[in-house]
Amino acid sequence: MESFKGKLAVITGAGTGMGRELALALAAEGAHLGLCDVAEETLAETRHAAEALGTGVQVSTFLCDVADEQQMLAFRDHVAAAHETDALHLLFNNAGIGGGGTITDPASRPAWDKTFAVCWGGVLNGVRAFMDMLKAADKAHIINTASINGFWASVGPHTPHTAYSAAKFAVKGFTEALITDLRLNAPHIQCSVVMPGHIGTQIVANSMKVLQQDPAGLGEEAIAAVRAQMVEAGLPVANLPDDDIRGLLRARAMEFEASAPTTAQAAAEIILQGVREQRWRILVGEDAHAIDRLVRENPENAYEPAVIEQMYALGHFKGLVRSVESS
Ligand SMILES: NC(=O)c1ccc[n+]([C@@H]2O[C@H](COP(=O)([O-])OP(=O)(O)OC[C@H]3O[C@@H](n4cnc5c(N)ncnc54)[C@H](O)[C@@H]3O)[C@@H](O)[C@H]2O)c1
Repeated sequence: MESFKGKLAVITGAGTGMGRELALALAAEGAHLGLCDVAEETLAETRHAAEALGTGVQVSTFLCDVADEQQMLAFRDHVAAAHETDALHLLFNNAGIGGGGTITDPASRPAWDKTFAVCWGGVLNGVRAFMDMLKAADKAHIINTASINGFWASVGPHTPHTAYSAAKFAVKGFTEALITDLRLNAPHIQCSVVMPGHIGTQIVANSMKVLQQDPAGLGEEAIAAVRAQMVEAGLPVANLPDDDIRGLLRARAMEFEASAPTTAQAAAEIILQGVREQRWRILVGEDAHAIDRLVRENPENAYEPAVIEQMYALGHFKGLVRSVESS
């Protein structure tokens, strides 16, 4: 698909970050948009920003949790009705959250299951819900967002990452298998897996909200657990008061966004260029390319701290590891 003009694109998680930037870039090129998110206010902001571009595209929005299949089916019905069509050209399964904690702690289960359900279930629900509409288009493209954590299950040696990585590996494996399934059964539909490195977005703050771990709302017990994790990671915070720990969590979210080498806007451009070029694997950012190379060159050592050191030496990844581990 070389031009997006006049096409209909659905984007999940369009309230902020890469989802919003994809929406704005597509609207600028004349694509109509069906957008969803769990965050009403930011979703409305994206809609207004897309309409304000003045390209005359039709933008619809729908509050929807991608992890819930019934809500995704309702979103599909809403898109079909709002745009008066049974055909969809572009499906961006972009919504995601980070988190999940350690699987060794039974108390982390709600956050673990939610992270997996959003990051993997959201993609599966999106593909299932919109398949008939994609089949009804003359040409269509499914774009599933995984991560570098979809081929390298780590953000450094001090941070457990099982829920997010398991989900992102699933997104990558599913999308790779989808290539053959679509070739056999719906050859006019292409698919791509997007694997961003560290991108400057509010994902840390947004994830804390979705997982009900917003620092302001964390009680004494939860803060004690966070403090213990920080101490375990070697931070001198054993005697820090609760409010200071809350402050550190907020700072971590801001540092994640501020220290990223690639902006959400630049990421959206890279993703759309990959779609235009019909590439099935879209790596986003120099850090993503570098870790892809390192893991392929030396898979046996992929989880040794030395690999992080190699990344540092290449000038990548410092911001990501620091913002995750400084918490
Ligand atoms: N930022 C990064 O460094 C990075 C790196 C690799 C992959 N990713 C992936 O990129 C995608 C976009 O993330 P981002 O960095 O732009 O983050 P973001 O937080 O800015 O955007 C994600 C959006 O998804 C929404 N969302 C969260 N849970 C949802 C749910 N259950 N249903 C519907 N919407 C939901 C959020 O409200 C938010 O608006 C995610 O899948 C993320 O895992 C991000």
